[in-house]
Amino acid sequence: MYFDERRAHFLQDRLQRRLKICGLDNFYAYYRLLTSHQGKTELIALVENLTVNETSFFRDKPQLELFQKNILEDLLRRKQERRDWSLRFWSAGCSTGQEPYSIAMVCQESMPGVKYELVASDLSSGSWSPVTTPVQSDGSGQFVNLPLGGTSRFFRLRNR
Ligand SMILES: C[S@@+](CC[C@H](N)C(=O)[O-])C[C@H]1O[C@@H](n2cnc3c(N)ncnc32)[C@H](O)[C@@H]1O
Repeated sequence: MYFDERRAHFLQDRLQRRLKICGLDNFYAYYRLLTSHQGKTELIALVENLTVNETSFFRDKPQLELFQKNILEDLLRRKQERRDWSLRFWSAGCSTGQEPYSIAMVCQESMPGVKYELVASDLSSGSWSPVTTPVQSDGSGQFVNLPLGGTSRFFRLRNR
């Protein structure tokens, strides 16, 4: 994991919280715990504490617009020229899946019928939920960035 200087305070704060929970009073003791055989569970807990899982559909709109208008178009043209039909995308740091779903919606819109593979991963074990998990429209802003008509086109409403 990478943290630049500006996030040093965040890192220190999260580490201190874990130290307290583990009943330790110094960073070296915590380092010893993490690198020990029994430290595996604590390492997972630490990673969970250091990752920010904020996500929503089309969360980073400019990024997806760039992907749709520049990268995807160019990629398809180059693939066509080479008669290479393999397409594979990777959503690295996918959180609970809203980003790969957004990519899939863009692909459906820009290249209907074209086959592609979409891989999604996240280092936080609590993040990725199976495709079948319903998305809650609970006012958490998950849908605010969806392009017009996206909600009805790509989602089916279900009563609780
Ligand atoms: C702020 S969220 C963004 C989620 C999603 N990409 C989006 O835009 O909606 C960042 C995610 O990246 C994951 N993450 C952070 N560092 C990572 C790494 N080195 N490898 C894989 N996932 C990582 C975190 O667990 C978290 O779920």
